[in-house]
Parts: sequence; C-alpha cells; structure tokens
Amino acid sequence: MRNLLTGLDIGTSKVCALVAEASPDGEVALLGHGAAPCTGLRKGVVVNIDATVEAIRAALDEAEKSSGQRIGSVVVGVAGPHIRGLNSHGIVAVRGGEVGARDVDRVIDAARAVAIPLDRQVLHILPQQFAVDDQEGVREPIGMAGVRLEARIHIVTAAQTYGQNLTKCCERAGITPLEMIFEPLASADAALFPEERELGVALLDIGGGTTDIVVFHAGAVMHTAVLPLGGNHLTSDIAAGIRTPIADAEKLKISYGAATNLIVRREEMVQVPGVGGREPKTIARRMLSDILEPRMEEIFAMAQREIVRSGVADCLASGVVLVGGTALLEGTQELAERIFGVPVRRGLPINLRGLPEELMKPMHTTAAGLILHQSAGRSVGAGMGRYGRWGRLRSRLSDWVRDFF
Ligand SMILES: Nc1ncnc2c1ncn2[C@@H]1O[C@H](COP(=O)(O)OP(=O)(O)OP(=O)(O)O)[C@@H](O)[C@H]1O
Ligand SMILES: [Mg+2]
Repeated sequence: MRNLLTGLDIGTSKVCALVAEASPDGEVALLGHGAAPCTGLRKGVVVNIDATVEAIRAALDEAEKSSGQRIGSVVVGVAGPHIRGLNSHGIVAVRGGEVGARDVDRVIDAARAVAIPLDRQVLHILPQQFAVDDQEGVREPIGMAGVRLEARIHIVTAAQTYGQNLTKCCERAGITPLEMIFEPLASADAALFPEERELGVALLDIGGGTTDIVVFHAGAVMHTAVLPLGGNHLTSDIAAGIRTPIADAEKLKISYGAATNLIVRREEMVQVPGVGGREPKTIARRMLSDILEPRMEEIFAMAQREIVRSGVADCLASGVVLVGGTALLEGTQELAERIFGVPVRRGLPINLRGLPEELMKPMHTTAAGLILHQSAGRSVGAGMGRYGRWGRLRSRLSDWVRDFF
C-alpha cells in the first residue's frame, strides 16, 4: 500500500492542498497539489462554513486530479488569534536512581498540569529542556543518573469551537482531519535550517489575516504568538488611502507596493485604474509606500514585543526569517532589519524536496511543513528524543472530537 501524506493549509487568502508519498526509506516525493482562493475565513478563523467547504473541495479536487490519488484524510494547519502559547515547568523524583521513560512521562504530565480553561484544547506540548539534579540544559534525560528530574515545556492551546468548525468543514468536504498543527510550526519545519533553531531564530509567517510567530532557541520552541494583522490590512489601507476597490488595491500592492520609502525613488510613478468609469490616474509610487510603511512598522513592532516576551531576544544569532505571502512585499526585509536590528531573510519551503518552481514561495511553507511533519524520521528540527520533531507529544484530532461531544 502506498504511504500517502496529505497537508491542507486553510488560510485566510487561499486553501492549499499537497499530496506526497513517503517511500520505505523515508524519501518524500510530491505527487500533486491544488489551491483555491478562500473567502470563508477572517483572521485565520472560519466564519463562513459553506465558502470554506467549497474552497477545500476545489483545492482537493485539483490535488486529486494532479496526483491521481484519492484523498481521504489530511493533516490540517491551525491558526488564529485565539491560539495561545505558554511556558510551564514540572519536577518529579526519579525512581530507582536512573531516569527512565516513565519518569519523563511523569515530569511532562507534571509540567502540563496547569490550569487550562475548559473551553480550550491543548494542541501541542513541546519540551524545551530537562534538568537532572543540578545538570541543566539536558535534551535526552533517559538513562542519566539522578534523583530529581525537571522539565520545561511550551504548551499551545486553541479555542475548542475553532476545532469544531474546522472539523465540520473538512467532513463536509468529504475528508477526515487526522491531526491539527499550529501553522507557524509547520512553516518552520519547511523553511528553517536546523542550525537556525539551535542558534536562535524568530519565524514570522505574515499571511493574509494574521502574523504568526514562533521563536526557537537551543533547538526548542520558546514562544508562540498570533497577531491579528496581515496582508489584507495592507490592501484595505491602500483601498481607503487612494479610494480604489479592494481588488484593484490588491493588484497595486502586489505590483508596486513597498514596505518602506527607502527603496522607492521619489520620481517613480504608477498607473491606478479609474473607479466608476473614470479615466485611470497616475500617482507617485511613494503614495503606496507612505500608506504601507506605518502598517508594516506596526506589525513588526508588535512582533518585536512578542520576541522580547520570549526571553531570548538577545540570543537570536540567526535573526528573523519571514514567510507567508506578505514576505514577498518589496522592502519587507529592509524594514524588518531596521526594526529588529538583526539579520532578516525570506524563507522558502526548502526542506520539502521536489517542489515545483511555482510552489517554491513563502506562502507555501505551511502546506509543505504539514507534509514534512508526517514523514517521520525526516526531522529538520531538533530531536527531543521520542518527543519528536518539535519535541512534541502527538495530540490527535480524535482527542479533540472525543472531547467535544
Ligand atoms: N507579491 C506580493 N507582494 C505583497 N503581498 C503579497 C504578494 N503575494 C501575496 N501577497 C499577500 O500575501 C497574503 C497572503 O499570504 P498567504 O497565502 O501566506 O496567507 P494565508 O495563509 O492565506 O493567510 P493566513 O495565514 O493569514 O490565514 C495576501 O494578503 C496577499 O496580498
Ligand atoms: Mg498562512
């Protein structure tokens, strides 16, 4: 039987489905893909089930056609400002003088025993590091001698109703959601080099509706956050600023937009389509960057606050990596470097081999990461022993579903 891997990124702007196959030796080959514009979400959250189902179905149909495979189940990306990340820690006494797998399970349980409101569901438990007696910074404690085991973990939770709606959309589109992955973790898997996670890096996924943040240090997730701002806000700002319909504003942003005035020559002019039968007009390109720069600054300033909150802002030797469609906005890297004061690069889904050129773009990192996540043993992240690629205990969707009903 073929080992099919399928990822479904249900974003605010588009739904993207990828189908791949894992060979017995762990090689992953992409078989097909599909994408469809989606209007059913706002800020990463489903607000219109019919529109979302339609987009999922369209993306899946295309992916099925191009791969020649029928897709029955998928791993789905989860996003939205309702997602929260928090750090916690636990301590247990080690039984028998040597740390065993059971001690690790117990200490993780102790660390996750924090008050999580009933209307929230745990998405990921990500071990950061262990300490055995006074020995800190231990990644693989099993087999170490000691009497006290400590664990630091990062917990990601989501609103339950969100999962219910997403499940409903998938089921109505005729597929079973297998597992839900917080989107920037998937993006990180696709776009980051292992050394970057070690040395410290902040990944920003600037999509249409939200900006998702994940900060890594010493191979572990130190902080996660979702900002309720993304590329759609840039488009609305242009539409309001130069009084043009959203669709035209979007085209202008993509063709001529710039995140900072620094890269736009004063004399550069661009054509804006006329509204309501009026003649097209010519405006200075600077008008666009004047509108976009403050919004991009706002996004980066908010992101900077989250990075500081991670507690490792001063140790991000690998700087910042930008993914998501808005990372394509010209001048984004330059502006980000000015605000963060560290090197910034644009991330692509480089870790999924065999992606066609058209998918090698910053907006496809989430879908690629969802595929990589399933191909066990192809970890690009730090191994945290049996806690896996992101040092993560599997949180199966079936648990969500069981908890709902
Ligand atoms: N060349 C470009 N220049 C500027 N912005 C762009 C460009 N291409 C796409 N975008 C913007 O990227 C955004 C979509 O990015 P992406 O596909 O990553 O979002 P999404 O995953 O659908 O949304 P989210 O992750 O927020 O739910 C849109 O706002 C779009 O205008
Ligand atoms: Mg996205």
